[in-house]
Amino acid sequence: MRKPIIAGNWKLNKTPQEAMELVALLKRELSTVTDVEIVVCPVFTCLRDVEDILAESNIGIGAQNVYWEDEGAFTGEVSAPILKSSGAKYVIIGHSERRQYFGETNETVNKRIKAALKHQLIPIVCVGEVLSEREENKTFAVIEKQCKESLAGLTAEEMKLMIIAYEPVWAIGTGKTATPDQAQEVHKFIRDLLKKIFDEDTAQSVRIQYGGSVKPENTADLMGQADIDGALVGGASLKADSFTAIVKNTCGVKTN
Ligand code: 13P
Repeated sequence: MRKPIIAGNWKLNKTPQEAMELVALLKRELSTVTDVEIVVCPVFTCLRDVEDILAESNIGIGAQNVYWEDEGAFTGEVSAPILKSSGAKYVIIGHSERRQYFGETNETVNKRIKAALKHQLIPIVCVGEVLSEREENKTFAVIEKQCKESLAGLTAEEMKLMIIAYEPVWAIGTGKTATPDQAQEVHKFIRDLLKKIFDEDTAQSVRIQYGGSVKPENTADLMGQADIDGALVGGASLKADSFTAIVKNTCGVKTN
């Protein structure tokens, strides 16, 4: 059975003070949750403060990006060893906002994944189609290319350590959630693809999160789908009550 994983992607939100206030509330509200893995991904400069509060708790910490070199003349970048020593255990890689605004490609996603794995950070690798691609029936082709190129050269053992997030770009921050059936269809496609690229055992063990306008009200229906193993939550992760409700609405839903 795959343990569901709910991760909050805070994007460019929260000062260190605000971040500490939020995680203090989450820590209190979610302390009894054991059947859902919980992660928060603040901006880099909040990692250490958040770690001070969440150490020894059931909430893990993730970063939102990582550079592929460990150190050197790369102004403005941050490396896997630095993230690790700042408390991060996970790292989001290839988010559509990075692809759209910061020139991220499948090739650079691949380099970042390898750097993260080298330093025992768990990559949360994002894939997803834009609206025009969906309308032109290109969703599966886009997802296949993103997965094949981003995951190139990885072993099955490495793949098993990772998480994939399917985030249809048209559903991010728009309030337009993919229907549970639409999401499940793509999640199943990704799992079948993992079987082709790696093997059945790997495909069955990798967790695939859904992301895009996840809120407390649509969580249980999405999580009830066979191949949806959690959520990557943007807007609704910025408030303790909505993120707490999303985690709680995931508890007990998965029985596969
Ligand atoms: P929203 O939940 O705000 O749609 O954002 C989703 C997302 O991009 C998570 O990475």
